[in-house]
Amino acid sequence: MKYIIAGTDRPDSNTLKVAKYVQSLYSSLGEATEIIDLKVAKEHLHAGDLQYGKQSEGMRPYMDKVLTSDGLIVVCPEYNGSMPGVLKYFIDHLKFPESFEYRPVCFIGIGGMFGGLRPVEHLQQIFGYRNAFIFPERVFIMNVFKVFNAEGQPTDDLIKQLLLRQAQGFQKFSKALAGAKLDANSFIESKKS
Ligand SMILES: Cc1cc2nc3c(=O)[nH]c(=O)nc-3n(C[C@H](O)[C@H](O)[C@H](O)COP(=O)(O)O)c2cc1C
Repeated sequence: MKYIIAGTDRPDSNTLKVAKYVQSLYSSLGEATEIIDLKVAKEHLHAGDLQYGKQSEGMRPYMDKVLTSDGLIVVCPEYNGSMPGVLKYFIDHLKFPESFEYRPVCFIGIGGMFGGLRPVEHLQQIFGYRNAFIFPERVFIMNVFKVFNAEGQPTDDLIKQLLLRQAQGFQKFSKALAGAKLDANSFIESKKS
């Protein structure tokens, strides 16, 4: 199962709208996905006493989802030139190194003028450091508040096309890695034997 991480805890966020639209795209391509909404997940993040291996029980399902996923799609808004703090803090709660090592991941940035380019590049540094397989086609949604309507549908044909092409490409990318047993789940299995 692929998980779509909606990377903010802001109520009524554009990020969640985009995440839901992306989920509908995967569904139209025959693949069920699940959204990890950080507005909900944040209740289970520690209040300032983060220690590896001592996550709250409430975090366990989220950790397990990431640890078994065949791909992660991160939707990230730009806040002050970077990602929302809650997204970095969520990442910091996940198991090291298995959560991201060899795991296929793709990024969608949203924001004003630069469409979330900066937070996505910051995320690429983090996921690169954590040895994830980063899908090279990123999507940047400029002026998200203008190109997505109140019903959560894109009103811009180019955005529709780019999101669809990314979803199709990411499906192939994660399938190819799994087929070659190069994906995270095969890697974790191979370490057991
Ligand atoms: C706290 C905050 C900081 C922001 N900083 C930036 C910024 O640095 N650059 C930018 O292009 N947009 C910035 N924006 C605009 C957001 O990227 C845009 O409103 C987007 O819709 C926010 O996503 P959200 O609705 O999911 O919270 C900021 C918005 C917020 C709430």
